[in-house]
Amino acid sequence: MALQFPTRAERPGRLPHTASLEERSLWPESLYHDPVMERFLGRVIAEDAEFQFYAWDDEREQVVGAGMAVPASWDGGAASLPDAGLDAVVEARFAGGAPEPTVLCALQILIAPEYRGQSLSARMIRRMAEIGRDHGLGTLIAPVRPTLKDRYPLTPMERYSWRRPDGTHFDPWLRTHERLGAEIAKVAPQSTTIPAAVAEWEEWTQMAFPETGAYVIPGALVPVEIDRERDEGLYVEPNVWMVHPAG
Ligand SMILES: CC(C)(COP(=O)(O)OP(=O)(O)OC[C@H]1O[C@@H](n2cnc3c(N)ncnc32)[C@H](O)[C@@H]1OP(=O)(O)O)[C@@H](O)C(=O)NCCC(=O)NCCS
Repeated sequence: MALQFPTRAERPGRLPHTASLEERSLWPESLYHDPVMERFLGRVIAEDAEFQFYAWDDEREQVVGAGMAVPASWDGGAASLPDAGLDAVVEARFAGGAPEPTVLCALQILIAPEYRGQSLSARMIRRMAEIGRDHGLGTLIAPVRPTLKDRYPLTPMERYSWRRPDGTHFDPWLRTHERLGAEIAKVAPQSTTIPAAVAEWEEWTQMAFPETGAYVIPGALVPVEIDRERDEGLYVEPNVWMVHPAG
């Protein structure tokens, strides 16, 4: 497989994507409605193009994976990694008077389903860290979204750092980051906050929420809290802050 990992700045414009990467089902529908990403995605792409990159299949001439990251300011202490994880980092990036960036923060890595299971994700993380170093941002930090946590929505994220008998993480995405040298700093309890009307949640999940309460929904890491009286469903997704070794 002849893959290259160009940045969006190196290969601007709309590149051909493999069909499976375009499918809307790659994330739970609700994640496409994070108000912070809805507001800033355009600026991430336009203003931080050198930190967005592709996995480009040279033979098929198609994008088969994508990595997104933004520069962030961090003093190196676990306590100052924001509880609001991904949302906080993206908002801070585009806030007026933001301090000088010191690290690169991962936003997401997405791989076309037919290219999964071939260790491509580790190459993507390494490439992301390299892009940071190329820009003087020697440390990669990541509010990691553990990929199997949706099967355990009732387990608090603080308890989810389970390990297998061989000592490696139970969760494959935490395991992949750790294998590359990253360490867990702490949980980001509110990494992505998605408030929406009950009807929207019903549409996104293809479920009915007849009364106020917590509901387990497909693909989500924790239940969504439905409030019928206020006509609001609130999803507050925790992630896990991981810090890669300085390069
Ligand atoms: C998460 C993702 C990037 C992993 O990419 P990948 O290239 O398939 O992963 P790899 O082949 O490098 O495998 C990494 C580890 O996950 C394991 N793994 C992969 N798919 C798995 C699955 N469906 N179930 C359980 N484990 C799985 C692999 O066995 C490997 O672990 P091991 O080597 O320790 O056994 C990819 O599945 C994806 O794009 N998912 C949707 C988006 C997403 O969740 N991104 C992460 C949050 S930003």
